[in-house]
Amino acid sequence: MTSDALMSNYGTRALTLVKGEGAWVWDDQGKRYLDALSGIAVCGLGHAHPAVTAAISEQAGQLLHCSNLYNIRTQEQLADQLQAVSGMDKMFFGNSGAEANEAAIKLARLHGNHKKIDIPTIIVTENSFHGRTLATLTATGNRKVQAGFEPLVRGFARAPYDDVQAIETIAANNQSVVAIMVEPIQGEGGVRIPDADYLGQLRALCNANDWLLILDEIQTASGRTGSFFHYQQHGIYPDVVTIAKGLGNGMPIGACLARGPAAELMQAGSHGSTFGGNPVACAAAQATLRTIEQEQLVQRAASLGEDLLSRFETALEGCDLVRDIRGAGLMIGIELEHDCAGLVAQAAEAGLLINVTAGNVIRLLPPLIFSDEQASQLVQILAPLIRGFTPED
Ligand SMILES: Cc1ncc(COP(=O)(O)O)c(C=O)c1O
Repeated sequence: MTSDALMSNYGTRALTLVKGEGAWVWDDQGKRYLDALSGIAVCGLGHAHPAVTAAISEQAGQLLHCSNLYNIRTQEQLADQLQAVSGMDKMFFGNSGAEANEAAIKLARLHGNHKKIDIPTIIVTENSFHGRTLATLTATGNRKVQAGFEPLVRGFARAPYDDVQAIETIAANNQSVVAIMVEPIQGEGGVRIPDADYLGQLRALCNANDWLLILDEIQTASGRTGSFFHYQQHGIYPDVVTIAKGLGNGMPIGACLARGPAAELMQAGSHGSTFGGNPVACAAAQATLRTIEQEQLVQRAASLGEDLLSRFETALEGCDLVRDIRGAGLMIGIELEHDCAGLVAQAAEAGLLINVTAGNVIRLLPPLIFSDEQASQLVQILAPLIRGFTPED
């Protein structure tokens, strides 16, 4: 079934998924797929997790929506839970990653305007992805995302990723810098993992210059990389961190968390959202956080991720087509010598959902509840497809 009433922005979509359970999904023809993508890092608990379904149903039966003119109990409880798990002080809830990043950008603007800087400038990086709103697509380091939407937003300067020296050079020539905004691991950009001391060096640079360190953890948080937030593996705190995707296990919710002086920048009336922090979305997120903790899924992501990396290394040993296999927790990239978008359809044919990003990087984001058997199945299906892949496919 294809409707001509939808805009063409998603291109042609091959599959119609109608049902999910755990790490499995089914299409409208009844075919079953092993889901190694989780809706692009969204359904960390897998599909139709009973705790999330129950939380949504119960809250929907009580109060589906109420305006932010009123206190919202599930929003406050979720804020307390996230505060405890993050070590951050305060937060704002929106409905998506882009909105969480918009809030972060607005915090940087407030920080700069308080300092009486005319054009507060945020340093962002090449190959980054921060969203599709005007400010976040401007922050995004990918011309394809920006093309046609000019004029872009002012107040951004770009540096190569994983290059602290380049940021120092920009800052030496630009007195308007107020913040650095980066993904701790670039997701859409090809599962790019920076040097181990990159985040620490950015933290030091921000401290020395009174800049905000803004981390976009929309893809890396919610346990995905083997800690609840990725910065927790680096012994630092950001001033601002954004989270979305896996937070509600499929319910649309995002948040912008701030710490220290950055947490005090918003005043009554400075920001808002009709649906942000909605009772049902917050109930789903509460259930998601509880389940991640109860089922020790952060630890599971770390150990299964290691295991998957070594299984792929063994299965792909000596394969000339493979340039690199890398990952953190259950965020895994297999970089090939050639573009390999064609592998997505081949994998689907074989009953497996994967993604290819940055042209030549197979991106795997299986749910954190993936079993050992499912991990074996993933390698057994994918490794031969990679070995047999030719650039013409
Ligand atoms: C790192 C990062 N930031 C921001 C976004 C945008 O999130 P959303 O699509 O929910 O607006 C994404 C989505 O892929 C992302 O991966």
